[in-house]
Amino acid sequence: LPVKLLVFAGSTRKASFNRQLAHVAATMGRAAGAEVTLLDLADFDIPMYNADLESHGTPADVMKLKKIMFAHSAWIICSPEYNGSYTALLKNTIDWASSPVKSDPEWSSGSKAFVGKVVGLLSASPGALGGLRSQSHLVPLMLNLQCWVAPKAFALGRAGDAFDAQDDLKDEAQRKMVQAVVEQVLMASGRLAD
Ligand code: FNR
Repeated sequence: LPVKLLVFAGSTRKASFNRQLAHVAATMGRAAGAEVTLLDLADFDIPMYNADLESHGTPADVMKLKKIMFAHSAWIICSPEYNGSYTALLKNTIDWASSPVKSDPEWSSGSKAFVGKVVGLLSASPGALGGLRSQSHLVPLMLNLQCWVAPKAFALGRAGDAFDAQDDLKDEAQRKMVQAVVEQVLMASGRLAD
């Protein structure tokens, strides 16, 4: 059975470099034989987390997201860097997705959508460090949710010059770095499934 790979970016900006990078990773995942879902967080109507809001019921799009996450054993997260960390969008999305659903016994465990996922981290930034510091915060977050974080990761610096008109990476060395992360995630999640 092909590995099911979920790819998403922590930005909803139309011209987001991380969305472009997610597109590259998704294409590579498909080429490597995975069944890939390229998710756009802009398609999900998820408010800022508030337990009072949640007490009236988990939003439909949060349930939708939880189910999609649960159905994929391998994930690639493309993370922008804001103030040396990952984005509020990413944290809010993960907080909602990891909150127990009181009304549904099937989802009473908050970490259900996360446990055992193999997660590869990519980042992109116009700066020289490529958003690397966002990854250093994402690693403990994902570990806390009982994900396996792939040791290989890649941070794309000077992202404004990195993509061609087809949204592909211009530089072959950079393509290879992204590919190595995608392949490691697929390999590890295939092995863990045995
Ligand atoms: C940034 N940006 C940024 N870049 C970086 O490399 N390190 C940083 O600490 C920050 N901090 C930061 C804070 C805030 C509030 C914003 C809005 C931006 C720049 C950021 O990398 C740039 O806007 C990227 O284009 C964001 O990613 P997407 O949307 O292109 O994927």
